[in-house]
Amino acid sequence: MGIWCKNMDNQSERIIIFDTTLRDGEQSPGATLNVDEKLTIAKALARLGVDIIEAGFPYSSPGDFEAVQKIANLVGTQEGPTICALARATTSDIKTAAEALKPTHKKRIHTFLATSDIHLEYKLKKTRADVLAIVPEMVAYAKSLVDDVEFSPEDAGRSDPEFLYQVLESAIKAGATTVNIPDTVGYTTPGEYGALIKGIRENVPNIDQAIISVHGHNDLGLAVANFLEAVKNGARQLECTINGIGERAGNAALEELVMALHVRRQYFNPFLGRAKESTEPLTGIDTKQIYKVSRLVSSLTGMVVQPNKAIVGANAFAHESGIHQDGVLKNPLTYEIINAESIGLTNNQLVLGKLSGRNAFRNRLKEIGYELSEQDLNKAFVRFKEVADKKKEITDRDLEAIISDEIQQPPELFKLELVQVSCGDHASPTATVVLRDAEGKELTDAAIGTGPVDAVYKAINRVIDIPNELIEFSVQSVTAGIDAMGEVTIRLRHKGSIYSGYAANTDIIVAAAKAYLNALNRLCAVTNNQANSDLQNIY
Ligand code: KIV
Ligand code: ZN
Repeated sequence: MGIWCKNMDNQSERIIIFDTTLRDGEQSPGATLNVDEKLTIAKALARLGVDIIEAGFPYSSPGDFEAVQKIANLVGTQEGPTICALARATTSDIKTAAEALKPTHKKRIHTFLATSDIHLEYKLKKTRADVLAIVPEMVAYAKSLVDDVEFSPEDAGRSDPEFLYQVLESAIKAGATTVNIPDTVGYTTPGEYGALIKGIRENVPNIDQAIISVHGHNDLGLAVANFLEAVKNGARQLECTINGIGERAGNAALEELVMALHVRRQYFNPFLGRAKESTEPLTGIDTKQIYKVSRLVSSLTGMVVQPNKAIVGANAFAHESGIHQDGVLKNPLTYEIINAESIGLTNNQLVLGKLSGRNAFRNRLKEIGYELSEQDLNKAFVRFKEVADKKKEITDRDLEAIISDEIQQPPELFKLELVQVSCGDHASPTATVVLRDAEGKELTDAAIGTGPVDAVYKAINRVIDIPNELIEFSVQSVTAGIDAMGEVTIRLRHKGSIYSGYAANTDIIVAAAKAYLNALNRLCAVTNNQANSDLQNIY
């Protein structure tokens, strides 16, 4: 097996983490990211320690091409992760992927073709013989452009295993060094998926020349369980996304896989040829970065993390019942299997306050993993002072919300200059907004609504006349306390597409206004780029 599977220190096997947040994750409805946002996430993934970043599907749109190229250039350094680009099994897709990956140090082309009869008959209108001819030809073509080639038989979970073995053998013979086994529709159960991986190991004659990877969707909520069963049967690469985002019900969640392998190391060690008691990590992930990256992906994609989500949900470490609280106070081991600090949640509540200076601010940001340019630091510091004037204690979570709101945002076509609301139980909620457009022109309007948020959104709609339907509105407090900042995440629909928006502020009406503008700014940016992209949803 290739060097990727080996831990350099003692040559035992380890699990490769292949992150596809920027490719499959971005296929979540409404999770569209712009190039700079993708770059921000790619940098965070590199700090997290993922082995491979699937940065996008360059042939699908000029925006995806540019994002892959930029990530390849700025994150694909000698010490950085491998950067991977997706391509259908066609020469034009593969050539474009190779082109986008050019600037990177370690590059991989991931090419795929469906193998299930249902996909062959209805989607591709191809025969099994066609697939057996196309796969080696296209893998060989990819191999002529890059050394590292991954092949995926799409819908492998519903493919005839005997046919799958033949396709995989031909792909490996043509140069694929990783063969990925997608459960594209999230149909298999852990026992079946484990058996499929075992069958591949036992029946593909040249399987020792490739790493077995797994990719799976969460339609039945089984993706993580399937992967762990696959690891026990020989899979060594896991394709996953932060917060489990992705097509339909999403992909297997990186944080769940990594923490399962971390917390239950002793259970998994023997399957990787290690002594049961070995304390050597099973993945290269710096688990302390997990919470931060989860927050970043949630705020940039607008995909809210459900409170009871394993590992990164707001309630994941909260003990509500008296019996549990009593037990945890006596000994945390009674009800806690994971130490919150291991995913980067700190107990450090009071971090900074109104009197804290620029240096203390910069140092704390650095400690929690943000290194900002001077310009961004200045912007964030001004915002910090505004928040500190209203809120006595600024915690790490507040700092993260400030960074998400102030720095990690797309360029603003429309900027909020003022929002003013009058409401109450004996008043008609009335809002006035002042926006500034890209040319610097001030645009003012006012409206009456059923409540303050409705009034603000109606006033904004009178300025920016883009018909849309608000389909989700969520407010969460960043920390406990009456003076807490509120985070607003919204999703709106325009012509069948979903756009998300995020903002944080101590005033939730201001956060609501900014989140709405954030979504409208994304909508405008995408609409402007749409002419370039006629290849959305092509498979
Ligand atoms: O789900 C799937 O089959 C995919 C492939 C492109 C790997 O995303
Ligand atoms: Zn997928």
